[in-house]
Amino acid sequence: MRILILGGTRFLGRALARLAVAQGHDVTCAARGVSGDAPSGARFVSIDRDDPAAPASLAGDGFDAVVDVTRQVSHARHALAALADHVGHWSFVSTISVYADNTTPGQTAADAPVLPPAPPDVDAPVDPDNRWYGECKVSIERLVRERMGEDRSFICRAGLIVGAEDPSDRFPYWVRRLARGGEVLAPGRPTDRVQFVDVADLAGWLLHAAGARLVGTYDGVGPAMSREELLTGVAAGLGVADPHLTWVDQDFLLACDVREWSGERALPLWARLPEWAGLMDRDARPALDAGLTVRPLSDTVRATATWMTARPDDVRQGGLDPADEAVVLREWQAVRDR
Ligand SMILES: NC(=O)c1ccc[n+]([C@@H]2O[C@H](COP(=O)([O-])OP(=O)(O)OC[C@H]3O[C@@H](n4cnc5c(N)ncnc54)[C@H](OP(=O)(O)O)[C@@H]3O)[C@@H](O)[C@H]2O)c1
Repeated sequence: MRILILGGTRFLGRALARLAVAQGHDVTCAARGVSGDAPSGARFVSIDRDDPAAPASLAGDGFDAVVDVTRQVSHARHALAALADHVGHWSFVSTISVYADNTTPGQTAADAPVLPPAPPDVDAPVDPDNRWYGECKVSIERLVRERMGEDRSFICRAGLIVGAEDPSDRFPYWVRRLARGGEVLAPGRPTDRVQFVDVADLAGWLLHAAGARLVGTYDGVGPAMSREELLTGVAAGLGVADPHLTWVDQDFLLACDVREWSGERALPLWARLPEWAGLMDRDARPALDAGLTVRPLSDTVRATATWMTARPDDVRQGGLDPADEAVVLREWQAVRDR
């Protein structure tokens, strides 16, 4: 298969390009080369998609399939205008941030309401809080379906993506924390649900989708598990048996200004309940039935840990720092023992 990846210089796009090369496909990555390099074996074409004419340089290359990871509406519009008539299949990597309801567990792409599209004057998410991210992805999904037709487009709404080369501080926080040992602050309840997808599994599914001409809209998520399974599974993947987990009530954490999800003072992969009960508890069955395969958590942990050891400067630091964690644990124990 001749495959064009619009992106391919970091995390998911790079993992996809690497896997496609390994499977013997003819791979082109088109990006600026600002975020990183395309993997070896892939052809790299330097384009800046801020230039509306840039994708036209790829129109004569006869690609069987395109995978686009963009968050920018105009980037998608220009790529589709230049390439839609010349390719057989278009995969768009969207996000579960398109959903309007983050509270209800067990939803699927088939039944869940989405946000409205981005307003006409919004082209891209606005940092630092990523405002309009979901709405921009909704707009791009619509463009892909309109331009390619339902019979040639695959929309993959990825959940939290984890694994080697993760540019976020989320999953790597737990790998680092459980590797350090000692008493670990575990947020919420052991039974709370968490959900993610391994970057290599997602890459494999995108390649499968392109090859099999899979069409439609799916969530790209692995099966949800309990937070206790996650934390003990991360520890087990690192060779640590019986981690010392202390579960701390979510209201106590919030009162201590411990933050949710990611960033400074955050406990990653934790979001308050019941408001966010649907975020990491979507129904993975449609994706599994459509060819997503899920590797054991221990493989994901080992791949992440190996990368973190090999490329420490690439690993984003974040989350609750050890001194702050110790303070919160001490205060929690004082409250609990009262
Ligand atoms: N990480 C998660 O947990 C998560 C969760 C849900 C969904 N997602 C989605 O999953 C996808 C992840 O994609 P990814 O990991 O491959 O990385 P990404 O961060 O989306 O990378 C963007 C890609 O686009 C390229 N790019 C950016 N600006 C460009 C421009 N002006 N011209 C040409 N190329 C440009 C970048 O390369 P250069 O900078 O080199 O040009 C890079 O390869 C995204 O769509 C994201 O929204 C992620």
